[in-house]
Amino acid sequence: MRKIVIAGNWKMNKTVAESVKLATDVVAAAQGIRSVVVIIAPTYLALAKVAEVVQGSNVKLAAQDVHWENQGAFTGKVSADMLKEIGVEYVIIGHSEQRTYFGETDATVNKKVRKVQSLDMTPIICIGETLAERKDGRLESVLTTQVNGAYEGLAADDALRTIIAYEPVWAIGTGVTASDDEAQQAHAFVRSLLAIRYGEDVAQSISIQYGGSMKPENAAGLLAQTDIDGGLIGGAALKADSFLGIVTPGESISK
Ligand code: 13P
Repeated sequence: MRKIVIAGNWKMNKTVAESVKLATDVVAAAQGIRSVVVIIAPTYLALAKVAEVVQGSNVKLAAQDVHWENQGAFTGKVSADMLKEIGVEYVIIGHSEQRTYFGETDATVNKKVRKVQSLDMTPIICIGETLAERKDGRLESVLTTQVNGAYEGLAADDALRTIIAYEPVWAIGTGVTASDDEAQQAHAFVRSLLAIRYGEDVAQSISIQYGGSMKPENAAGLLAQTDIDGGLIGGAALKADSFLGIVTPGESISK
């Protein structure tokens, strides 16, 4: 059985005070949520305060990135130990914005995944193709490279402690969502890559989220697809009611 996992990636939005307010609203709204794993990912700056807000609730805390070293001369970076200390349980790794603007590669994704797992936190590994890559017929080769790069050297037991977020870059922040069919096909392909590496049982146990203009209006259709096990939400996660409008349909779905 796979868990439905819905995570709000707040990106570079919300001051600390605004983050505390939104987290408080999400905690209140998610009180009745039983089966969906609900995660919020504020900025680094707000994590410690938001950790206090979510403590004892059914809302989990994620960071938006991490460095792979323990400490040292890495100006601007935050280590996994620092995240762990304040109660972070999940770390988003390899987001397309990190890849596009900040030089993230499959090799750095892999290092971050290993580091995060060494401290018993769960990586949310982001993959996805650009519009040009899709139009060039390179969807499958891009996803293959990204999955193989991220999971390089990971044993099956480690793979079971990961979450994947398939986020087609052309759907992020654009209002253009992948259709249910387009998303399902990509997810099934990603699961087939996991099956090649780890076998069908492991592949069937790993949650694969969809991300890219997911909102209450399209959530139920996407979540109903066989291989879509949740969502990584940007814009629609910045208000508690629209975020919960995506979480709630997940409650009645089992995979
Ligand atoms: P949007 O939901 O704003 O398209 O963002 C998706 C995303 O990038 C989540 O990580």
